[in-house]
Amino acid sequence: MPTIADVAKRTNVSVATVSRVINGTKYVSPELRECVLKAMEELNYRPNLIASSLRKRETLTIGLIVPDTANPFFGELAKGVEDFGFKHGYSVILCNSSYDLDRERSYVEVLIAKQVDGLIFIPSGARTDHVHELLSEEMNGRVVIVDRYTPELETDSVVADNYTGGCLAARHLLALGHERIGCIMRPRYLAHVEDRIRGFRETLQKEGIDIPKALCVRGGFSFTDGVRSARELLSRKDRPTAIFAYNDIMAIGVLRAAREIGLRVPDELAVVGFDNIPLASYVTPQLTTIDQPKYRMGELAAETILRRLKGDLTGGPIRQELEVRLIVRESSDPEAVADKLLF
Ligand code: RIB
Repeated sequence: MPTIADVAKRTNVSVATVSRVINGTKYVSPELRECVLKAMEELNYRPNLIASSLRKRETLTIGLIVPDTANPFFGELAKGVEDFGFKHGYSVILCNSSYDLDRERSYVEVLIAKQVDGLIFIPSGARTDHVHELLSEEMNGRVVIVDRYTPELETDSVVADNYTGGCLAARHLLALGHERIGCIMRPRYLAHVEDRIRGFRETLQKEGIDIPKALCVRGGFSFTDGVRSARELLSRKDRPTAIFAYNDIMAIGVLRAAREIGLRVPDELAVVGFDNIPLASYVTPQLTTIDQPKYRMGELAAETILRRLKGDLTGGPIRQELEVRLIVRESSDPEAVADKLLF
């Protein structure tokens, strides 16, 4: 079996340099790195990562737990985590909790057993007591919560400004003259999504507009849930002229339901979502939405973990909140010009 010494000899560098290339612990010029990697390939050398991780008590891996890998919001965010990790020599182990607390806990246990150096965690629900002790005892501070607020966990966090996102959506619909506005909320309470709805409601209330109880429904997690919720709202005798949905998946379900009953969007019904998943600009009409910086949230979470690990970040937990943007498209504004496909 070829050894690290064989690789060093072949590339005429020290064993320490080869080790630096393998572990990413210190800077190696791109040319030299390329030369070492080529020699490893030619010799079919496979570093013994278990031995090196036991020696250094690090595995150069980051755990990432998300509630739903099928939702493009989490997919974009995971890509930000993985790209940043790869650039800095870390692998990412992605786990999908499927909104199941038992499964979520077992993944936390698995990642701890695999001795991940850090954990990026998007809790599937409002409760985190099922993992609180595990995280604080075993991961002591090497955890970043993303997207949702969990103050009881006292860890670093990266979130978006959800309240302002709700305000932006309301201001947009008010500017278009809408007064009978419906809302599709998340099926179960989560503080950050409720902040969206609160921002939305409070902005309408400042203009003397309330959302009637009958026009506020709980949605779900799938496109089908979005269609079902929209049918409920649009079947009302005094149906809304605009609908704000807690995420793009629900909003795209509204577009489908509107088409089913022959409602013209946006002339007879304006639709606004939240997230700005890639699909939002590929549906017809293109979806007006609130853009969350999904990729950047993932990158920043990974960067925060690595800064903690390297000791650049000391002291108590830090909360980083990123701005959101209103993206006006055809589903709300008749004057909106479709995004051009520039390729
Ligand atoms: O679409 C998934 C939703 O849940 C997003 O709005 C995101 O904030 C996540 O929490």
